[in-house]
Amino acid sequence: MLFDETAIHRRLDQIAAQISSDYRDRDLTVIAILNRILIFMAALLRRVPLPLKLDCLTVASYHGKAQTSGDVVFKQVSVPDVVGRHILLLDDILDSGHALAAVRGKLATANSCTIRVCVLLSKKKERARYVDADYVEFEIEDEFVVGYGLDFKEQYRNLPNVGVLRKELIAQES
Ligand code: IMP
Ligand code: MG
Repeated sequence: MLFDETAIHRRLDQIAAQISSDYRDRDLTVIAILNRILIFMAALLRRVPLPLKLDCLTVASYHGKAQTSGDVVFKQVSVPDVVGRHILLLDDILDSGHALAAVRGKLATANSCTIRVCVLLSKKKERARYVDADYVEFEIEDEFVVGYGLDFKEQYRNLPNVGVLRKELIAQES
């Protein structure tokens, strides 16, 4: 196990306090990426006492495998109306960067004031696409992790902890 629920929530308190302070006088729209963000988003946003708006996008990029395809499919075509608002984009993990670069690119045409990125996890690695996260709960090594919303073939999202997936399970796939 990498992070248990207590450690995750302790860090969430810090990040939520930072976000609450940074967006104190700003019109904030949070845009979250489903389904992977559900658990992290619910825990984070309940700690941010601001009059924010919440919208969700659905994208797919892994197609059930343990490595990125680089091919990001938007299942929802329109972007919410964010003109004059500040966007905070929430995702589960920054890995190759393909998904967040694609979503950021799509949102960049929406005439918002600013776009920042918040992720639960960021892998220490060289990315295929350059994306920086402004708020990172934890940095991790380049390993495949599950739990707290992160899945492998749609399983393990409901685990309350984040842990490294056993290598034999990934090996069975290839
Ligand atoms: P990207 O490689 O940065 O485009 O990551 C796209 C998505 O793949 C992430 O938002 C996750 O949902 C998923 N992903 C990447 N690394 C992992 C992992 O270690 N475990 C589970 N899902 C992952
Ligand atoms: Mg996934």
